[in-house]
Amino acid sequence: MKKGAAVMDSPLLSCKGLHKSFQSDGVDVDVIRGVDLEVSAGDFTVLMGSSGSGKSTLLYLMSGLEDVTGGTVMCNGYEISSMKEKELALLRRGEMGFVFQAFNLIPNLTLLENIMAAGFLSDTPKVDLERRAHELLDSLGLGDLAKRLPSQVSGGEQQRAATARSLVNSPKILFADEPTGALNSASGKKVLDYFSRLAKEGQTIFMVTHDLKGACRGNRVIYLKDGQIHGEYRFDDQALSLEEREKLLFSWLVKQGW
Ligand SMILES: Nc1ncnc2c1ncn2[C@@H]1O[C@H](COP(=O)(O)OP(=O)(O)O)[C@@H](O)[C@H]1O
Ligand SMILES: [Mg+2]
Repeated sequence: MKKGAAVMDSPLLSCKGLHKSFQSDGVDVDVIRGVDLEVSAGDFTVLMGSSGSGKSTLLYLMSGLEDVTGGTVMCNGYEISSMKEKELALLRRGEMGFVFQAFNLIPNLTLLENIMAAGFLSDTPKVDLERRAHELLDSLGLGDLAKRLPSQVSGGEQQRAATARSLVNSPKILFADEPTGALNSASGKKVLDYFSRLAKEGQTIFMVTHDLKGACRGNRVIYLKDGQIHGEYRFDDQALSLEEREKLLFSWLVKQGW
C-alpha cells in the first residue's frame, strides 16, 4: 500500500504547492494559497495567524480530514492527498491523533471508556487497551477520575481526557486545533504542560493556537496570513524560560502584523 517507501531523512509530514478553495455563493474562495511546509519527526510545530487566515483548514489538509484542491501532502511516506477515504481512515487511525477545541467525549461513557473506545478498532487486546488507558489517565493526573462521566469533571479535565484518547493508539503525529481555546488559563496550562512533556519525549505535534502562552511551547511557530506562510520563528535556544520565549515570540508576532 505504501507508494514509494519513506526515504531516510524525509520529513514525517510535508506539503508542497498546497491549495484549497471553497465554494461560497457560487464563487471559489481561495483559503490556502500555495503552502510548502515540512514537519520533521519530533517537531512541535505551532500554527498561528489571525482568525480566518486558514489555520484550521491547513491542519485538516495536512491530516487528510479535508481534500486538497491542488498540491500534495505526504505523511510518513504516503501521499495522503491522493488516497481513497478508506485507506486514509486507516492511516489516520493508526498514525494520527486529534485534539479539538470541543472535547468531543462521548457523554454516557466514563473517561476510561472514552479512551478505550478510541482503541477498539485496532488489534490491541482489551486488557492491554485498559492498561494503556489507565497509564495515560495517570500520566495526565486523571487517575482518580477514570470512572467519572465527562459531565462530572471540569473542562480542563475533559480536554486532558480527550488528549489521552488521542494518544491511545500511539500516533506518530498529534494534531491539535486550539486545544486550550475553551479552557481557563489554569486548565489550559495543565494541557500545555502535558504537550510540552510529550514533545520532550519525542512526540511530533502540529498545533493551531492563537494563544501566545501555548505557542511558546513549540520549537517553531509558523505564521499564516491570508492562506500563505508569512514567516517562521524557531526557538533555537532550548535553555530559555517560558517567559523569555513568550517575550521573544511576542515581538516577532507583532512584526508579522499579529
Ligand atoms: N467548509 C468551508 N466552506 C466554506 N468556507 C470555509 C470552509 N471552511 C473554512 N472556510 C473559510 O475559510 C477561511 C479560513 O477558515 P479557517 O481555516 O477555519 O481559519 P482559521 O482557523 O485560521 O480561523 C474562512 O474565511 C472560512 O470562512
Ligand atoms: Mg480555526
